[in-house]
Amino acid sequence: MHLRDGAELAAVLPFTAQRFARAIVMPNLKPPVTTTAAALAYRDRILAALPAGLHFEPLMTLYLTDNTDPDEIDRAMASGQVSGCKLYPAGATTNSAAGVTDIRRIDAVLERMAERGMVLQVHGELTGDVDIFEREVRFIEAVLEPTVQRFPKLRIVFEHITTAAAVSYVHSARQGVGATLTPQHLLHNRNAIFAGGIRPHYYCLPILKTEADREALLDAATSGNPRFFLGTDSAPHSQTAKETSCGCAGMFSAHAGIELYAEAFDTVGRLNRLEGFAAHFGADFYRLPRNQDTLTLIKDNWSPPPSYAYGSGKIIPMRANESIQWRVSPS
Ligand code: DOR
Repeated sequence: MHLRDGAELAAVLPFTAQRFARAIVMPNLKPPVTTTAAALAYRDRILAALPAGLHFEPLMTLYLTDNTDPDEIDRAMASGQVSGCKLYPAGATTNSAAGVTDIRRIDAVLERMAERGMVLQVHGELTGDVDIFEREVRFIEAVLEPTVQRFPKLRIVFEHITTAAAVSYVHSARQGVGATLTPQHLLHNRNAIFAGGIRPHYYCLPILKTEADREALLDAATSGNPRFFLGTDSAPHSQTAKETSCGCAGMFSAHAGIELYAEAFDTVGRLNRLEGFAAHFGADFYRLPRNQDTLTLIKDNWSPPPSYAYGSGKIIPMRANESIQWRVSPS
């Protein structure tokens, strides 16, 4: 998920730290977090922004570029604080301009990651002149599957998958390939972006897909298959950056980062599968000890406020002024 930096970091971090003991923190800052030194400095800023009394472990990531030095992987492993390296295809999403222009340019880095056991996290969209609704499926064929084959030991998380095609790919992929699913892709289809008018707060990347895709994602998330686990991709942008002629991609869900999943699992009567998805499978994939604390969810409708403060502006949270069916018990 995205924590941003500075005053925006301070504004959004408590929402996540109140719900999760740790999270994988995306590196697409401006400038991006491309080195271990930058990741450690960012980690320090996150910990400094944590309100007293909250415990939270940021799991840092590096942003891969065409120029990433394979030795950086060794430095990252040695730090003990870097949980993965993120592949942003250049131009695919927010702050991805410095991303990788052709995956073959980072072969030496991927080789080193495979050797060292560093996880590759993937934003899975093919860039260029590709239909926005086809980018994920085209990425699987053009980039992901060839990479999975060429680096048989590389562990890969296909992040925020959005299509039935991605679900079936992950089911059939070799060992060491997992996927995360966001609350918005489990709960909404692409009609949400256009319901009665254009709704910028439902615009994220990869974009919401069809109802059949949503159903396949929900089925995978609630299947109990450990390849599929929680990853909110909560991505705050100020109201003014979203509500404009060329608005940013990203949905802010951290204020309800577990509650929305409870709602999704409840719709198919599979709340019994939520704990594995939310608390076990991701930890196991990343070879982290499972957390021992518990959190209690109550079925009780509430409405997120119209906005939250966000630096000098505001963020509009997912389901602002609408309702969410589950809440976290304060105890
Ligand atoms: O919608 C998105 N927003 N998708 C991403 O991959 C990046 C994110 C962001 O950083 O805003």
